[in-house]
Amino acid sequence: MTRLRTERVVIIGAGLGAISAALALAPRPVLMIAPEPPGQGASSAWAQGGVAAAMDAADSPEAHAADTVAAGAGTVDAAIADLVTRAAREHIHELTGLGTPFDRDAQGGYVLSREAAHGAARVVRVKGDQAGRQIMDTLIAALARTPSVQVLPGALLTGIAASGGRVTGVEIEAVEGSAPVTIEAPAVLLAGGGSGGLWLHTTNPPRIRGQVIGAAARAGAMIADAEFVQFHPTAIATGEDPLPLATEALRGEGAWLVNDAGQRFMSALHPDAELAPRDIVARAVFAERQAGRNPALDTRAALGPSVVEKFPAVAEACARAEIDPIAGTIPVAAAAHYHMGGVETDARGRSSLEGLWACGEAASTGLHGANRLASNGLLEALVFARRCAEDIMGETGMPVTAPEIAVAFGPGGHRPAPENVAALRRLMTDHVAVLRDGPGLRRALASIAALEASEPAPVFRTMTATATLVAAAALRRTESRGGHCRIDFPETDPAQAHRSRLTLEDALKI
Ligand code: SIN
Repeated sequence: MTRLRTERVVIIGAGLGAISAALALAPRPVLMIAPEPPGQGASSAWAQGGVAAAMDAADSPEAHAADTVAAGAGTVDAAIADLVTRAAREHIHELTGLGTPFDRDAQGGYVLSREAAHGAARVVRVKGDQAGRQIMDTLIAALARTPSVQVLPGALLTGIAASGGRVTGVEIEAVEGSAPVTIEAPAVLLAGGGSGGLWLHTTNPPRIRGQVIGAAARAGAMIADAEFVQFHPTAIATGEDPLPLATEALRGEGAWLVNDAGQRFMSALHPDAELAPRDIVARAVFAERQAGRNPALDTRAALGPSVVEKFPAVAEACARAEIDPIAGTIPVAAAAHYHMGGVETDARGRSSLEGLWACGEAASTGLHGANRLASNGLLEALVFARRCAEDIMGETGMPVTAPEIAVAFGPGGHRPAPENVAALRRLMTDHVAVLRDGPGLRRALASIAALEASEPAPVFRTMTATATLVAAAALRRTESRGGHCRIDFPETDPAQAHRSRLTLEDALKI
């Protein structure tokens, strides 16, 4: 194993949390490690809706926090919701100052989208459905002007190096396979995304398969709320992998969910119909699809031909799949979209392991509870990236300058067999998805263990670690709450109205 030492802060990931933290740390030296160059392959760049922020004079951070708590189904940390929603306006103003072209009305006010379970139009957007891409482009331009950041693309995280309960660095490999390299560093920040690709149907970019959470868990970090996975109700059912998203803002504009009998099935299920909390809509879409009734999004009455101009990313995905949203409906499916669970952090972004911080989807701060409120994901990444950076800067002995390091990957190592990755995704889809039950979860745990035993690639073990944590936490939570639905325990149990905490060691005993 090659061993290198840097005095730079190591950041894993190159999406919104990673780049925001690197910018906030400047001019302190950073080494940013990711499979792809900044912004590519990151979930944040694919976010359509935008950033939730109480920008309207009639809105308030308190109302935003209250909606966040309500959507989270009894397990949101109210103090975290308070601090995140209060910070939102400042972050929007900063992104605006950096040049993000947020949509504005004739008076110069922010155009705000309405999304499910928000009591107000509150989602700051760009060109309808381009928020993630445009925010990332703004930050990537700022990164290019920041010489303190060394970027190392083409590398995968395979493990976290720790000694005596303190994180000492990271273990990485080249994306195409290589001998492992350990990089020792004074601080490690995990900002490398969630777990969507552990399921066959996902809206996440291709490489996002729980590796970062799993690597932290294998090093002994506490993982919170692993069972809470958010399925988005309106992935466009094109048959692609991953599936393109049809943003919830379409429903905010009045688009309906219909089945092939022409019924608006959400009207019978919830007073807010298509704008019911996301978990409820996802289960309804899943049920319609299971019953063979082909759920679809009908934008015709609400938007007509303007859908193409107002939602260009959706229109482009439709065109690629030869779907005409002006003449007909858009077929949809529920798809793994956001992992509420992740590396447990406190309000400073610190994990349970000294020397290890986490932000963005890799982290579980307590903001999302059992069901994330739409467009709170980008907001949380922005707020906690800064908090992590400030906390890391406050550590004693953090260097102010450090030379760049040269990382050369030698031959060797193991890449996971594609059939093992496919089998893992299949079993998570069959047993640990929208609907769960005890026997299925037990079968999943046994199959994950068998797959892991047959596959030597370290990166595969990071995926199986996360899969194990999701299935074990789901088995332990004998109730239904938010995104976690047990068909053998359909009720919500007030005695389980708390976050879940689980180490990998404990998960393996469940
Ligand atoms: C969407 O635009 O529907 C997704 C927004 C989000 O997941 O926060």
